[in-house]
Amino acid sequence: ADYQLDGHPDYMRKEIAEQPEAMRRALMGRLDERFSTARLGGLRLEPRDLRSIRRVKFIGCGSAYYAGQIGANLVEELARIPADAEPASEFRYRNPVVDPDTLYVAVSQSGETADTLAAVQELARKGGRVIGAVNAVGSAIARECGSGVFLHAGPEVSVASTKAVTNMSTCFAMLALLLGRVRDLSVADGRRIVAGLVALPSRIEEVIAQDEHIADAARRFSAARHMFFVGRVRGWPVAREGAQKLKEISYVHAEAYQAGELKHGPIALIDGDMPSVVIVPDDELLAKNIGTIEQIKARGGPVIAVTNADLPAGLADIELRVPRTEPELDPILFGIPLQLLAYHLATVLGRDIDKPRNLAKSVTVE
Ligand code: AGP
Repeated sequence: ADYQLDGHPDYMRKEIAEQPEAMRRALMGRLDERFSTARLGGLRLEPRDLRSIRRVKFIGCGSAYYAGQIGANLVEELARIPADAEPASEFRYRNPVVDPDTLYVAVSQSGETADTLAAVQELARKGGRVIGAVNAVGSAIARECGSGVFLHAGPEVSVASTKAVTNMSTCFAMLALLLGRVRDLSVADGRRIVAGLVALPSRIEEVIAQDEHIADAARRFSAARHMFFVGRVRGWPVAREGAQKLKEISYVHAEAYQAGELKHGPIALIDGDMPSVVIVPDDELLAKNIGTIEQIKARGGPVIAVTNADLPAGLADIELRVPRTEPELDPILFGIPLQLLAYHLATVLGRDIDKPRNLAKSVTVE
C-alpha cells in the first residue's frame, strides 16, 4: 500500500526508472574494493566450500530462467566453472541427476513460483546444495533454501519484471566474481569487474535518458506483427529476455534466435515485414554480429541494432545506443533499452501495461 505510482503512468514505468537505485541497493556492502572481490555473507559458504564447487546450475522460470542464463555465462567467464541454466518447470519433472559437487541456484523474484519451489524441494530431498537468488524476503523459496543472495530490488508490482531481473544478473556477476577470486581470476580482472559494477547504475541512467529515441523506434515499428530478437553468446539470453518482455505486454509475436542459427532455418521468414532487434556488443564477436546484420539486410529485413560499438554508417535502420561497461557486464546493461522498447510498443498499441492478459505476477499453480 505504501508503494505508489508517484506520478508515473504505471508500475512498469516506475520500476524501469527505479533500476539505478535498485541496483545500488543490490551492490551496497557487497563489493570488496580492497581484495577485488564480492562479499556475499548470505551464501554461508566459506572459501573452502566455494572451491569445492565443480559446476553451477541456475533454475528458474521465464525471465528468472533467462537471467540464470546470463548468470551461467558470467560464472563460466569469470570463474571458469562449467555452468548452465534450466527452466525449473523442466528440471522438476525429468528426475534430474543431483550432483553433490554442483551449486544449484534457485532464481525467483516472488519466491513463490510453484515450479521453482518444487525444484528446490526435490533438490533438498536428494541432498543437492541449493541457494536462493530471491527478491521477496520470507517467501517460500527463500525459506526452503535457507541461504543465498537477496536481490534487494524492492517491491515489484508490474507483471513484466524489470528491476528484479536486472538485479538478478547483477547478483550473479557478484557470485561469479566471488567464485572466480577464490580460483584463477586475477586481482586486475577482479578490480576491473568491481569498478564496472560500481559504475553500472549511472550507466543505466544514461540508457533511460534516451527514452524519447527508443519511443521513436517503437512508433516506427508499431505495425509489425512479428519480430526477431537475435544475439550470440553474451547477447543470446539478452535477446530471449527482450522477446519475452515484448510478448508479455504488447502481444506482438517475438522470437529469439542465436545469431548463428538464423541461417539454419528462421532466415526464411525474413522480409520487409519482419524487423529484427540485433544485440551487438563491442566485443570479440563484433565482426560476426555485423555479418548477421548484413545477412538480414540482404533479405530486406529491417534492423534495430542495440549496440555500444561504432557500426558502419547506415548498416542498421535504427541504433539504440548503450554506454560502455566491461564486456562481461554488457548483458546486464543491454537489457534496459529492450525493456523500454517493449514498454513503448505496448503503449503505442494501447495495451494494459501492468496487467497483461492471461498472466499473473507470480505463478503459484502448476
Ligand atoms: C517476467 O516478466 C514474467 N512475468 C515471468 O516470466 C516471471 O519472470 C516468472 O514467472 C518467474 O517469476 P518469479 O521470478 O517470481 O519466480
